[in-house]
Amino acid sequence: MKRIAVLTSGGDAPGMNAAIRAVVRCGLEQGWEVFGVQHGYAGLIADDMAPLSARDVGGIIQLGGTMLGSARCPEFKTEEGRRQAISALEQRGIEAAVVIGGNGSQTGNYALSAMGFPTVGVASTIDNDLYGSDITIGVDTALNIALEAIDRLKVTAASHHRAFLVEVMGRECGYLALMAGIAGGAEAVALPELETDPEAVATEMLAAYERGKSHALVVVAEGAKYNAERLAAYFKEHRERLGFDLRVTTLGHVQRGGAPGAFDRLLASRLGAAAVEHLAAGEHGVLVGLNKEAITATPLADVVGKQKPLDMKLIRLANVLSR
Ligand code: ADP
Ligand code: F6P
Repeated sequence: MKRIAVLTSGGDAPGMNAAIRAVVRCGLEQGWEVFGVQHGYAGLIADDMAPLSARDVGGIIQLGGTMLGSARCPEFKTEEGRRQAISALEQRGIEAAVVIGGNGSQTGNYALSAMGFPTVGVASTIDNDLYGSDITIGVDTALNIALEAIDRLKVTAASHHRAFLVEVMGRECGYLALMAGIAGGAEAVALPELETDPEAVATEMLAAYERGKSHALVVVAEGAKYNAERLAAYFKEHRERLGFDLRVTTLGHVQRGGAPGAFDRLLASRLGAAAVEHLAAGEHGVLVGLNKEAITATPLADVVGKQKPLDMKLIRLANVLSR
């Protein structure tokens, strides 16, 4: 092998830069040239790529986002789009690619690999919903950002005996909301995986006041049936009966933009290095991830089309610990 490419795709996640750096420096160590592709699969199709040196990836390990840029690229979902991408890679003599990204990106990666182009995936998404890795690059930092916001909101909530709602990211997965709820000491959580009755949330919050708490806080995933907007509307409609207001904070992309913490930098460095090791060993069509403390490779065929389920025992824990 002489040349490989690396790209970041889908939602950016803190730690992607550390993963790029690891792929580039470990690839150079193998004696390969490493091409950085701009804007995910869109850059592959447009042949927008250039070789990266060890210095080009200097000073990025501590930065959020991705120096290569990321994109959602509908054309890549078509066979024609992927054919164009493979042709651009082959014309440059690039023999394999490393795709850093989440569920959708690894589905695209599998499609590329199924067309005969050797690839390895690196598990990276703040949603932590990717099958094949217990934990993905970016979620630890995103969770810490959510917790910082929750801790601050609890201070002002307690001063005024107020109720707060914090909406965190996660269109299809409640991992961030559930973990932020447990670690932030929330009185209730609302997740896409559960049918949450707004009246049950109100009851939890009233019960918290009755138990002598000075605040009540609910963490809601953006994909929950009752998201921030709908839950706030419900509380507004029933304000007189419930006897309290619900103030709303939507964290949104703030959670994605942070500087990666130690955990994400280390995970990304290890996974980036592992991706290169697998390619060097002639193995591809796999996703590298962290499972039970060990770096593992799971066939992409076993990763795609699934969503890693939430540990439902943790929902009970969230309830018990909010007493
Ligand atoms: P994430 O990787 O963060 O989950 P997306 O779901 O938006 O983000 O997927 C990122 C990109 O991966 C898409 O814009 C598309 O280019 C590619 N992709 C997603 N699903 C497929 C698919 N079924 N086939 C081919 N490419 C896909
Ligand atoms: O997949 C990562 C994620 O941040 C989700 O949590 C969120 O639902 C989505 O991306 C937001 O996508 P966009 O950045 O395109 O608005």
